[in-house]
Amino acid sequence: MSEPIAHFNGKLLPLDEIGISPLDRGFIFGDGVYEVIPVYDGTALHAREHFERLQRSMDAIQLRNPHTVDDWIACTQALLAHHPGNQSVYIQVTRGAPKKRDHVIPKDLQPTVFMMCYPLSSPSREAVENGVACVTSPDFRWEKCHIKSTSLLGNVLARQISADAGATETILLRNGMLTEASASNVFVVKDGVVAAPPRDNHILLGITYDLLARLAADGALKLEIRPVSEAQLRNADEVWLSSSTKEVLAVTTLDGKPVGTGKPGPVFRRMHSLYQDYKSKLRKARPVAA
Ligand SMILES: Cc1ncc(COP(=O)(O)O)c(C=O)c1O
Repeated sequence: MSEPIAHFNGKLLPLDEIGISPLDRGFIFGDGVYEVIPVYDGTALHAREHFERLQRSMDAIQLRNPHTVDDWIACTQALLAHHPGNQSVYIQVTRGAPKKRDHVIPKDLQPTVFMMCYPLSSPSREAVENGVACVTSPDFRWEKCHIKSTSLLGNVLARQISADAGATETILLRNGMLTEASASNVFVVKDGVVAAPPRDNHILLGITYDLLARLAADGALKLEIRPVSEAQLRNADEVWLSSSTKEVLAVTTLDGKPVGTGKPGPVFRRMHSLYQDYKSKLRKARPVAA
């Protein structure tokens, strides 16, 4: 099989021909930001919103964006021409490769841009119908979780806790309050009302989180953006995960105990169907990456 085509600093190249300097600050410091965009049969879901978030992440770390949103979308389309079907597009920008290792941010360094595609792994029918298991952990990450940083060691260690427990995600608690999960946002439902933690520096503001908030409003579901306590998480009728690749998934056990009835609840089923309808309408309206 031929090597997949990836994007490296403006060129499309076979993945195994791309080499990065060991002095690249992405390698040395994790000094970079990234995005992951789901693509369904050539239609990228919310590409513009992902590239706008990339800009916000870059602004937060004082990294110059080498491209406009329109340039980024053109690069995505060129890469997708080599990758038909359902894909995840991964985009990473690091601060670049200086001549020496120094924590201080160098001036006028050319950022390193890398993009690749890999087959999108959407949730299985089984996961949608039965829900998934999660465990909890203290949120031991830093105070700038709103930046989609490639420095993911905290998230990697958090995710490993659930992997070791045979669970799908690790839901994080900071000072007795729900933040998010290692690679997902978290929603709770009580008495028919959906709640999600506020958009602050303790969570990544998910593109899917925002979409669920809009779908809730359009679908006449009650949704509150407000702090959610550990007790409210543990006593919820329903708990959901959201992310670009997980879409929306019901959590049916938390730390080995059933959530609500232990089955995906009615509010989840409503949101899941709103999400699927939205996706299919978007694909009909925008048959190419946009
Ligand atoms: C820590 C974290 N929170 C939330 C999300 C969900 O974000 P999105 O819906 O934009 O995929 C992700 C996605 O990878 C994530 O890594």
